[in-house]
Amino acid sequence: MMKTIDDLAVEGRRVLVRADLNVPLDGGRVADDGRILASLPTLTALKARDARIIVCAHLGRPGGKPDPRYSLAPVAARLSELLGQKVEFAADTTGPSARAAVAVLRPGGVVMLENLRFDAAETSKDDAQRGRFADQLAGLADLYVSDGFGAVHRKHASVYDVALRLPHAAGYLVQAEATALGRLTASIRRPYLVVLGGAKVTDKFGAFGSLLGTADRILVGGAMAFPFLAAQGHPTGTSLLAADQVDAAAACLDKAAPGKIELPSDLVVAADVAADTPHQVVAANAIPAGQMGLDIGPQTAARFADALGGAETVFWNGPMGVFEIAPYAAGTRAVATAMTEHPAFTLIGGGDTGAAIRALGFAEEAFGYVSTGGGASLEFIQGNTLPGLAVLEAS
Ligand code: 3PG
Ligand code: MG
Repeated sequence: MMKTIDDLAVEGRRVLVRADLNVPLDGGRVADDGRILASLPTLTALKARDARIIVCAHLGRPGGKPDPRYSLAPVAARLSELLGQKVEFAADTTGPSARAAVAVLRPGGVVMLENLRFDAAETSKDDAQRGRFADQLAGLADLYVSDGFGAVHRKHASVYDVALRLPHAAGYLVQAEATALGRLTASIRRPYLVVLGGAKVTDKFGAFGSLLGTADRILVGGAMAFPFLAAQGHPTGTSLLAADQVDAAAACLDKAAPGKIELPSDLVVAADVAADTPHQVVAANAIPAGQMGLDIGPQTAARFADALGGAETVFWNGPMGVFEIAPYAAGTRAVATAMTEHPAFTLIGGGDTGAAIRALGFAEEAFGYVSTGGGASLEFIQGNTLPGLAVLEAS
C-alpha cells in the first residue's frame, strides 16, 4: 500500500514535492493551468500543516541544459496567484539559488525549483548519474511527496531515485489518479470503449496493441487515424504521418477481431492548418493530394457518438482534430458531448485531451475523471509497472 501525506509528520519539515506542472505556455503565459490546479490539494494541505514546501517539476523537453524558453518562472507566478501566496522561485534546481531559498523557507512557505530537466542527470539512463542528482535533491529536504502523476511512468531522478533516499508518500493527486484509473484495470464494466486520437501517435501503438485485448472497441480519430488509413492502402495527402507508423497500424489491424477498430469514414481536410484556409469534408479513403486531414467528419462524429451511447466504460486519450482552431473542433466536441450525455464511467487521459475539453467549455465534473497523465494513464491502464508508483509501494 502507498502511504499518503496523511501518514507523514510534516509540520516544520522540509518537504520536496514532485509535481507535474508541464503545462502549455503561450508567449510566456500559462495557456492552460489544469495541471497547476490539480497540484493544489496537496500543496494547500501541506501548507495548512505548516510544512516547508519545495516544489520541483519539469517543463517540456529542454534536453538537459538551461533554456529560458522552458523556464518554470511563469508557472511559479501562476501558482502564486492560485495559492494566494508568494512562491519563491529559485533560478536553479539544486544550486546556490535553490539552497539559499530553502535555507530561509518558513513553515507554510513555498519555494519552486527551476526546471529539473535543465540538468541532464534528471532523465539519464545511467543509474549512478541519476543517483547523484537525486542525492542533491534529497539534500534539500527531509521528506519526499510524489504528486506528479503525469510523470510517474518515467524512471527519472525526481520521480524514482529521490523516493529511495527520503521517507516518502503519495500526494492526493497521485492517490486520486491511481484510484480512478484502477477502475480500468480490474472488473471493468462492459461494453468498454476506448477513443484514441491526438497528434503524438508513435508513443501510442504499444498501448493500442494491448488495449485491443481489453477494450471491446477502439474508436480512432486525430492523427492516429492516418497510419491506419495508409495501412489500408488509402491516400493520406499531406496529413501528419510518419512512415514507421504504417507497419505498426497494419499489425494492429491484423491482430484485431473484425469491427473492433473503428476508423473515420469521413474527414475535414484543408491545404494547411490555418483557420482561414478553405476546408471541405471528404471520404476518409479519398483524401485529395495536397490536402491534410484536420478533424473527423460529421458522419464519423455521429457514428462515434452513437457508439459511445452504448458504452458502460469509456477511456479517451487524444483529441479528434485540431480543436484549437474552430473549423476543426467539431469532432472533439461531438465525442466530448456524447461522453457527458450517457451514464457510463468516462475517463479522460492526457494533458492535451484535458486541455481540449476545458478549451471547448466543458466542465471537468461532466466526466467521470479527468486524468492529468497522458503517457502515464496509458501505461497504467495496460497494467504496466510505473516506476514512480512502484517505488512508493515498495517501502
Ligand atoms: C506529459 O506531459 O506527458 C508529462 O509531463 C511527461 O512529460 P514527458 O512525456 O516529456 O516525459
Ligand atoms: Mg505526454
